[in-house]
Amino acid sequence: MSNKVPPQIAARLIEWYDANARVLPWRAPPGAPPTDPYRVWLSEVMLQQTQVATVAPYFQRWTARWPDFASLAAADDGDVMAAWAGLGYYARARNLLKGARAVVADHGGRLPGDEAALLRIPGIGAYTAAAIAAIAFGRRAVVVDGNVERVVSRLFAISTPLPAAKADIRAATDRITPDARPGDFAQAMMDLGATICTPRAPRCLLCPLAGDCAARAEGAPERYPIKAPKKARPVRHGTMFWLWHDEQVRLVRRPARGLLGGMLALPTGPWLDTPPGLNDAPGGGEWRMMAETVEHGFTHFTLVCALAGARWDGQSDPGPGEWWPVAELDSAGLPTVFAKAARKLGEWWTCE
Ligand code: ADE
Repeated sequence: MSNKVPPQIAARLIEWYDANARVLPWRAPPGAPPTDPYRVWLSEVMLQQTQVATVAPYFQRWTARWPDFASLAAADDGDVMAAWAGLGYYARARNLLKGARAVVADHGGRLPGDEAALLRIPGIGAYTAAAIAAIAFGRRAVVVDGNVERVVSRLFAISTPLPAAKADIRAATDRITPDARPGDFAQAMMDLGATICTPRAPRCLLCPLAGDCAARAEGAPERYPIKAPKKARPVRHGTMFWLWHDEQVRLVRRPARGLLGGMLALPTGPWLDTPPGLNDAPGGGEWRMMAETVEHGFTHFTLVCALAGARWDGQSDPGPGEWWPVAELDSAGLPTVFAKAARKLGEWWTCE
């Protein structure tokens, strides 16, 4: 990688952004003063691991209900977890609440503008601190997300595989980040990555940086970023339980720590390397297994769950939890894997 960076890269990118910026609910138009830091913070946390199109309606509902740090800090934990249901990576929601409470307790309800102070707030990591400093406060910061990684690794044909290439990519991003309009620059890089410099079949003919791009000059930009081979995800097995009583089903609040922590869910047994069958089934029912299973990919493993149903006998201890009307399950805020299981179990149960 050459150390010489044409100074026009940022200028060309900003010029492209002025004409092509996506209109997004959390975003100030190009060149306009930054929007409310609360909205920038919330959107950046929602957008980690989740696509813009999925986030937009969640963001709109969320900001209508909790428009600022004070209202979010005072919210009920269960309501916040339910509002997050479907976005995945639930630790983000628990951290948002912790973060909002810390902003209210330690910063008078307003986010600080510098990266070091932002990094001390629960749930704010290096990417989010840089993005907030640049986008909400107009401070120069080096903002590197997955889109930026792809654009920069192509621009400079960085041949080290990811994740080892992260330091080189960061250094190269630093060299092209301008002092002026750093928030627009960061978002322009993201938009370029999302709409032009796409993972497969990048649209180089429309790219404002095509003439600067080392990977394009080599002839196969889609080769970048080069990735180290992935390890296969292990499979874990579990069982989800549908304990039915009088048009209601038993739900439990999952322990705060761990997978899907703090979320309302169907009762489950343990996750094991082989199917656990009826281990840890709630009391008071004669359990039958469905033929179908549900599968869901988490970051570190794939979960395959058997599905079991029983009618509660009306006397035995059904264990901790609450009865929830089956007709209102959509409003329980179940995480996606449980919502999928509940749909299958509910149909099976009414047909039996
Ligand atoms: N992805 C993460 N943050 C973003 C932003 N501010 N604009 C567009 N895409 C994003």
